[in-house]
Amino acid sequence: MTTLDSTGQHLARGALTLIALAAISITTAAQSAAAGASASGDAAKGKVLYQACAACHSIDENDIGPKHRGVFGRRAGSIADYNYSAALKSSGITWNDTTLDRWLVNPSALVPGTKMFFKIDDAQARADLIAYLKEQR
Ligand code: HEC
Repeated sequence: MTTLDSTGQHLARGALTLIALAAISITTAAQSAAAGASASGDAAKGKVLYQACAACHSIDENDIGPKHRGVFGRRAGSIADYNYSAALKSSGITWNDTTLDRWLVNPSALVPGTKMFFKIDDAQARADLIAYLKEQR
């Protein structure tokens, strides 16, 4: 019984630590969401900017690059009928505000070995593009 009790306490303490860590990451997420909102993206501008992406991408068809519908929140490299680089497929990334921003700053820096070579230097343009992609559910 003693063993069970101490195990129980140990588990309880572990669970508390996890809850505390979860609370911290929720706070961080809320803060970055707020930060994202202050440099907030304009989806209508993003749609216009997306014309640059359309050299290789479309929302609903795979082309040189994979189709983009539902990309926000999706695991990188997960369109079944698109032939991704091994690097992107095994990156373990999920597309959100942060990962998409880093991707558009420099895909090869985020995922060495990717076959997308296209950068957007302007932070506001990246935010606008991400706002547009977010709407393509
Ligand atoms: C010159 C062609 C080209 C252009 C232009 C381009 N991309 Fe890509 N993109 C690719 C290729 C190729 C891949 C697949 C990369 C891989 O498999 O490593 C890709 C992958 C992606 C992915 C990952 C999708 C997934 O399913 O994981 C995102 C997000 C993305 N591109 C966004 C954009 C955006 C936004 C733009 C415009 C600002 C853009 N791309 C412009 C070629 C391009």
